[in-house]
Amino acid sequence: MDYQAILNVIEKEFSPTEDMGNVAAYIPELSKVNPLKFGVYLFCQDGSSFEFGDSQEKFSIQSVSKVFTLTIAKELLGKDLWKRVNVEPSGTPFNSLTELERESGIPRNPFINAGSIVVADALLSVLDNPKRDLLKFVRKLCGDDDIHYDEAVARSEKKNGYRNKALVNYMKALGNIDNDTDEILDFYFYQCSIAMNCDQLSKAFMLYANEGKHFQTQEKVIDRQSVKRINSIMQTCGFYDEAGEFSFRVGLPGKSGVGGGIVAVHPEKYSVAVWSPMLNEKGNSALGMKVLERLTTLTGFSIF
Ligand code: DON
Repeated sequence: MDYQAILNVIEKEFSPTEDMGNVAAYIPELSKVNPLKFGVYLFCQDGSSFEFGDSQEKFSIQSVSKVFTLTIAKELLGKDLWKRVNVEPSGTPFNSLTELERESGIPRNPFINAGSIVVADALLSVLDNPKRDLLKFVRKLCGDDDIHYDEAVARSEKKNGYRNKALVNYMKALGNIDNDTDEILDFYFYQCSIAMNCDQLSKAFMLYANEGKHFQTQEKVIDRQSVKRINSIMQTCGFYDEAGEFSFRVGLPGKSGVGGGIVAVHPEKYSVAVWSPMLNEKGNSALGMKVLERLTTLTGFSIF
């Protein structure tokens, strides 16, 4: 497969224009990002890689981080985790409060905000220093120590994250939160503030495309069952109330973030990260979705 030729076609066909969507403004720090940034990085299982545009520029990974925290929590807690968070698509926005009351404070899945806050709470209970351990895990996955929290983004969300404050307090009232709510939110906002580029993200996500093995050392990091479970949740819940649309158009498991990043994996072939900060009304990168749809059309392969 000539991936570089395919990326060249995509680069020519799609250039960002400001009418494609809006950068996330509910986290004020994120609204400072240049909406016209655009980059793609594709890493293949055989070690080859292909890229264009702003693929080396870091951005706020936001909800993409939920895949990393879920992976760590699943390793540390095993089946117990699923007593506190379900694995069903929500069909509602990522920050919705509505199902929690009907469903007794058990979030629909670990990728909506409520679910990831429960995962953060679970990590706080078993790790002495979850911020340090999360960064260590992500750096290891990428084979790159130049990955950091963006303090300004974390502070900005901490100041304005009223919905997340409502979610954690509501779940606390319903008995599904163990730790101090401010400590949980502090960790959650920091995890979302991690800054990475497309190159680093696609390498980190090779874990889910490479049978749970590190992209470079081939060391086994998680087992195949974990890969199956996490990819399944990405497929059905990775894009909130647009998960069906992403699956229909792209046909790969993936995860988005309101920083405009999307990472998708084709198991046993490649992992690909796209960044374009202009979001559609569901909070997913509008151009990112188009690019990935075109990629699986031009390669002729999806997981289906
Ligand atoms: O909690 C929030 O609202 C953000 N830190 C993350 C949301 C997000 O990235 C949703 N993704 N598309």
